[in-house]
Parts: sequence; structure tokens; C-alpha cells
Amino acid sequence: MQKSWYKEMSVYQVWPRSFCDGDGDGIGDLKGVLSKLDYIKSLGVDAIWFSPLYKSPQKDYGYDIADYRSIQPEYGTMEDFKLVLDEAHKRGLKVIMDLVINHTSDQHEWFKKSIEEPDSKYHNYYHWYKGKGKRRPNNWMSTFAGPAWEYNEKLDEYYLHLFAVEQPDLNMDNPEVREEVKDIMRFWLDMGVDGFREDVITFISKKEGLPSSPYWFPVATGIEKYMHGPHLDEYLLEFKNDVLSKYDCMTVGEAPMMTTKNALKHITEGPNQHLNMMFHFEHMAADCLFYSWFKTKFSLKRLKKVFSRWQKDLYGKAWNALYLENHDQPRVINRYGSTKYRVESAKMLAVTYICQCGTPFIYQGQEIGMLNYPFTDIEQYTDVSTKNNYDVAKAIMGPDRALKLANYASRDNARTVVQWNTEKNAGFTTADEPWFMVNPNYKEINVEAAEKDPDSILNFYRALLKFRKENEVVIYGDYKEHYKRSKDLYVYERNYEGKRLLVINSFTENAVNFKAPEGFDLSKGKCVLTNYKDPKVSGNAFTTKPYETRVYLFE
Ligand code: NOJ
Repeated sequence: MQKSWYKEMSVYQVWPRSFCDGDGDGIGDLKGVLSKLDYIKSLGVDAIWFSPLYKSPQKDYGYDIADYRSIQPEYGTMEDFKLVLDEAHKRGLKVIMDLVINHTSDQHEWFKKSIEEPDSKYHNYYHWYKGKGKRRPNNWMSTFAGPAWEYNEKLDEYYLHLFAVEQPDLNMDNPEVREEVKDIMRFWLDMGVDGFREDVITFISKKEGLPSSPYWFPVATGIEKYMHGPHLDEYLLEFKNDVLSKYDCMTVGEAPMMTTKNALKHITEGPNQHLNMMFHFEHMAADCLFYSWFKTKFSLKRLKKVFSRWQKDLYGKAWNALYLENHDQPRVINRYGSTKYRVESAKMLAVTYICQCGTPFIYQGQEIGMLNYPFTDIEQYTDVSTKNNYDVAKAIMGPDRALKLANYASRDNARTVVQWNTEKNAGFTTADEPWFMVNPNYKEINVEAAEKDPDSILNFYRALLKFRKENEVVIYGDYKEHYKRSKDLYVYERNYEGKRLLVINSFTENAVNFKAPEGFDLSKGKCVLTNYKDPKVSGNAFTTKPYETRVYLFE
């Protein structure tokens, strides 16, 4: 397996609006980021991925870009960004930008011109279609619920938007659009950024003629016509050959509905590789049917199956991107862990994924074990997809159950402000009101308290990332699962150049009898990470404590 910096790094994701407010207007910004660079560095990560910082009407909090070459004024200026970039680099932190090219904002000049000057080249930058009589051009539904088409009276045409109405999809089949994308990439790479997280990159190529789907879903009807479209390989290769390969940069593509088989088409190492890694979603469906709004009971077996499939299918061929949280996912302790055993389960979940083979991503607040927000009213939510999904759910199951579902599934849970200390607004802002909720648990759960406690989740993350950095077996080792049939234990080993790792995770508060798998003598290994003091072993076995994790190293 080829070694590389992007394989050895770990990444901290900043969702800028809620990270830290440096100018006292209630909204997170670059000045706030600057003030926390030392903190980020102290975690032991090697890179920061910024969710979109670009100028945007914020209908989807930056994923609706109005200008790819300027910074959202609420976040600061281009000079502020360059300072952050420079200061990050000085600290040895790489900077990864979010590249959102499936769609723009409806306030982007291109889109405005596509309406104002329908004979200009900009009209063909987007998917403008005539209706079929009084009907829309096809039956596709937005992934944010509701039809994927919006009618424009002036043009008597519809435009496609797979996300919010204000996020028109770009027509990537137009070579001029691809040239624009390449120019945007060059602009940021020339400035010195180190790579891109490419937003819903697997949606950029739509099936010719945009045919209707024979299937119906309450959201995203038609997804099979674009989730892995006909020219995706070609366009990704073009971006790589014309731009990315000319820089020492990395890419991670966001890829909903991705399978290992399809992922390997894009990330298998070699001359035809399109991207370095992909964010798939399969492991985020252990408590739902492919999407958190279709809630089911959490199943560890389901989770393990996905983890092991990705570990095994990619090993030696391609590289995994590892995550449990981001700005689109509710907090993982609420989903796969336990709020009763918050600290224990947070540490166990961290070990579960960071000790796998791949590049780990950590989302802001995850490192202190932040939890979902106790929403009581749909009016408290601000996310467009939550509101749309709530309306669909309400029509099916009534307002009370729909709200319950929103409380569990909404991505707003991940977007409450980062809890820095016990001061007003959890230290996020000096303004009277932050732009969004402060979780009432901030007096207990905050960075300052975690700094002081040697046994905090925060300090555990530090130890875990340090251990990963110092032990190649965690980075490059192979993977073998044990206890496959257990519904409570997730156990795997890693092997690399004579070193072995045994990773034992309990997903229950109940005591479970664990016996070391054949070939492992626990008395000969060193327990290098655990969430309980004095891990005892008797006869190569032990009984697990609630959400216990142990990592044994054999040298
Ligand atoms: C995926 C992003 O992560 C999400 O936040 C956004 O709403 C959609 N793509 C649309 O850009």
C-alpha cells in the first residue's frame, strides 16, 4: 500500500457559522477560527475542512454559493481567510475547502443571467426545460422534499434543483461549466489550499434527457437517474487530469448511496483514480433506512457489516474516509451511543471508527461529546431540509410524531453553537443572542471543563489521535473482524509489519463476557487505550463494563 500524507492525517471539520464568533455579531467567523487554531492543533489533527465560507444567501448555510471567489461578509474578508490559511499552515495544519459544484445559489450571477439573458451562454449553465403541458418536465423530487423543479413565468420554463428551490443544479454536460469549475479549483489551489471536500459530487452527471423515474419515494424520486450518472467518471477524470494532478492536494468526494463496488471505480489507486477518498453513507444507516428520517432501532450488526465491508473491499486498493458525525448528521452519542453513559460511549465510538484503516474526520463539538438539542417546537428549527421533511412527516403521521422524528433526525442537532465554557452563550459569542441555539447542557459539556479533566472525552481524543500518529499499524494495518454474530460487541484486529492491534468495543450497558479470539494472549499485550481505569483480565477474558472500549497492542 502506497503511503501518503492524506492517509496519515486526521481532519477536524469546522462548520463556520456555529464554531466561534470573533466579532460579537452572534455568528461564527474567521476571526473566531483564528482564535481557536491552537486549540484545533492541540487535538492532534493535521487538517481543517471548512464547510463553505463563500458568499452565499445562506438558504442552505453556504451550500448555496453566490460567488465562488469571495468570502461571506458575515465570516470576514478574503484577507481574513488568507490569514487563517497562513496561520494554519504555520502550525502544520492543512486546509481543505468545500467545493459545491452540483448547484449554485439562485443569486449567483450565472443563474441570474440565465433568466435575464436567456439567449446568453448562461442559460445552458443550468437545466432549463419546458414543461410537459401543464406538468413538470419529469417526476423527480428534491432530496429536501417537494418537486425538484421550479417554474419561471418569464421564461415559461422550469429549472432543476435537486436540493432547495434556491439551489439550481448546474449543467455539467456543458463543457463551459466544467471549465468554470476547473478555474475555481485553480483559484483556491493557487492560493495555497490543500484540497477539496466535493459536495454531492456523485450527483453531477444526470441521465440524458432527464427521464422520469418508475419509482416513487417521498423524497428524492429519480435519484437512480443521477446518483452515479453516465458521465461521472469522465468529468472527474477531467478535473483530475487538467487541474488536481498538477498540485499536491487531496480530494474527498461526498457520495450518498455509494456502495464499495461503485466507490472502487473512483478511488482505486492508479492512473484512473478520480478522487482520493469518498464519504459514503452506509454506516450512518444503522438506526434508519438509508436516511435518518426513516427511523429504525439501532442495530450494531448492521453497523458492523458496513464497517467490515468497506474495510475489506478497499484494503490494499483504495482508501477509506472515516466519520461518525458532520454537519448533516445528528450527534452520534444520541444515535449509536448512550446519553446515560455519555462519556464512556463517546470514547468507545471514537475508538470504533478511528482505529479502522482510513483517514478520520472529527466534527466540531464531537470531541467534547456534544449532544442533540432538546427542541420542543418546529419553529425552533432553521434548516430548510428539516422544515420540508417535517411537513412531509406531519402529513403522514401528525405533528407530534413528526416533531419527535425531527428531534431525532434533524441536522440542526449538529448545528447548535460550539460550547466553549460556562459563560454567557457558552462562550461562543459576546452578543446578546447567538444566531442559533445554545444547548442548555453547556454548563456541564464545554471545552474549558474538558480541558481541566484528564479523563474527559477531549483528552481521550487527543490520546487516541496521538496513538494513531505514532503507530503505523493503526494507519496501514489490515483488518479482520471477530465476534461477527454478537449484537453487543464490535471486535476487530489490525496487523502491520509484525505489530498487532486488538480493538474491543461494547455497545451496551450490560455486562458481556469477552474471551480473546484465538491467537491473542491478552497478558502479552499492552492495553493502550481504554475508557475505564485498571482494565483487568482473567484467563484471557473479561466482563465488559457499560460501553467499554479496550485497545490492546502486541509488539
Ligand atoms: C451535502 C451537504 O453536506 C449538505 O449540507 C447540503 O445541504 C447538500 N449537500 C446540498 O449542498
